[in-house]
Amino acid sequence: MSLQLKSGFTFDYDNLFGEGKVTAEDIQSYAADLKKAHAAMNVMRESGFIKAHLSKDGAPEKVLFSQLPYVEEGHLNSPASMKHLAQLSEHAKKDIDVVVSLGIGGSFLGNKVLFDVHCGAFWNELSDEERGGFPRVYFSGNNIDPRSTGDLIHHLENLAALYKSHKQRNLKVLLLVISKSGGTLDTMSNFMVIYDALQKKANIDTEVVAVTDPNMEKKTLLKQLATDKGWDTFSVPDGVGGRFTIFCDVGLTLAACVGFDIQAFLNGAKDMDEACKNEDVWQNPAMLNAALKFAASEKHGRHIEVMMPYGDYLKSVSEWYIQLLAESLGKQFDKDGKEVCYGRTPLVAVGTTDMHSQTQQHQEGTLDKVVQFVKIAKWQNDLVIPNVFPEAQKLADISGVTMGDALEVARQSNADALSSNHRFNACFTLPELNAYHLGELLYMLAMSVAYEGELSNVDAFNQPGVEAYKRIMGPKLQALKAGK
Ligand code: PA5
Repeated sequence: MSLQLKSGFTFDYDNLFGEGKVTAEDIQSYAADLKKAHAAMNVMRESGFIKAHLSKDGAPEKVLFSQLPYVEEGHLNSPASMKHLAQLSEHAKKDIDVVVSLGIGGSFLGNKVLFDVHCGAFWNELSDEERGGFPRVYFSGNNIDPRSTGDLIHHLENLAALYKSHKQRNLKVLLLVISKSGGTLDTMSNFMVIYDALQKKANIDTEVVAVTDPNMEKKTLLKQLATDKGWDTFSVPDGVGGRFTIFCDVGLTLAACVGFDIQAFLNGAKDMDEACKNEDVWQNPAMLNAALKFAASEKHGRHIEVMMPYGDYLKSVSEWYIQLLAESLGKQFDKDGKEVCYGRTPLVAVGTTDMHSQTQQHQEGTLDKVVQFVKIAKWQNDLVIPNVFPEAQKLADISGVTMGDALEVARQSNADALSSNHRFNACFTLPELNAYHLGELLYMLAMSVAYEGELSNVDAFNQPGVEAYKRIMGPKLQALKAGK
């Protein structure tokens, strides 16, 4: 069984639904809750209201991610904000050699997805012409690792020396510093180390673009610095939690710097949002996904979701999804204050790679998983496996087949094997790997956790658990500085 949208996006849930799996009765038992959840999503779209959602400071807060696909006057993504992004794109193309995107969590994971899908692994090795004039891109701030930060600085110094000798000019570096709170240790420590090192190099010109909370009354540290130093700034708006920021300036600034098709991406998200307005659970991809996964967990003990896209450059989609699911649904208390310790556990996997490692556990281990595949129906520039060694029968047998087709045979075989042993699995199919279909997929997943928050009665938009270690870490760092 499957749900297919006009765009070709397909949710195939044959191996998750039916006898011995999630049943029609399971879904029927949620009929009233699904109706309520659907109504709650409409209210969220119209007003930003989500029952019992409070900000980090305990104040009522709107939830506005569902507004992001709609570029309109007065919206978070507006014609003016698109123009600002287009200016950044032009500037990056004309004036910048290297962008370093600094951020962590929600200020990193989506950007990595956009980079991987659009640029691939060898972007920085391409010529300027092959990159369409857009800059090289490096990521930092996603850890506090002296080795990798030192390596990045060393690499930029080497690049600067090359520019001096070959192009007789300075290397132009743009530090894209992304932090909603404007003071995250991981991001800001890397920023300061890199900024300081680059400032000391006579052959590197550095500029900074800050992406942070735009509030002018209560400025974040980063906003204050940007104001004082005249850096260009973009917004991480209130009401958009880190794990949803790929659709706002956080993701879109990086997208602009590499020439990713922002409008197509938002159009994909918008068309998916329209599909997710359908009140019939069988026609609404996000509601159906949420209902099936919720039932698989609550009624069949499948508490773990293995996100397993097929294709190297989709691994970061899986990593992005881990944060989305973990932070949205892993909650100790429900909306009524009752202790529930809810939350399906997400796992990163990628096919075919992890078929040679994790699949043993998926196939025979604890019966607690749903394996969620993502498949690309048609790969651009697919490669045919040639018959290079006709004397080797086993190799000759696979010749003439495209790598894309072989990849799908591997995925299908994995799905069949899992199903043959009562292992739940499902598949999202994107007709092609492009900005539009990526927008559809990511938005559907975001809307799906919003639905599951309603079904499980937990606040899908807060993350109180991540404050616990921060309360311990702050004083420890101060003690370290004081030499205690
Ligand atoms: O989802 C979240 O809120 C987190 O992952 C944050 O994005 C992450 O901690 C980075 O925070 P900030 O953008 O404030 O630096």
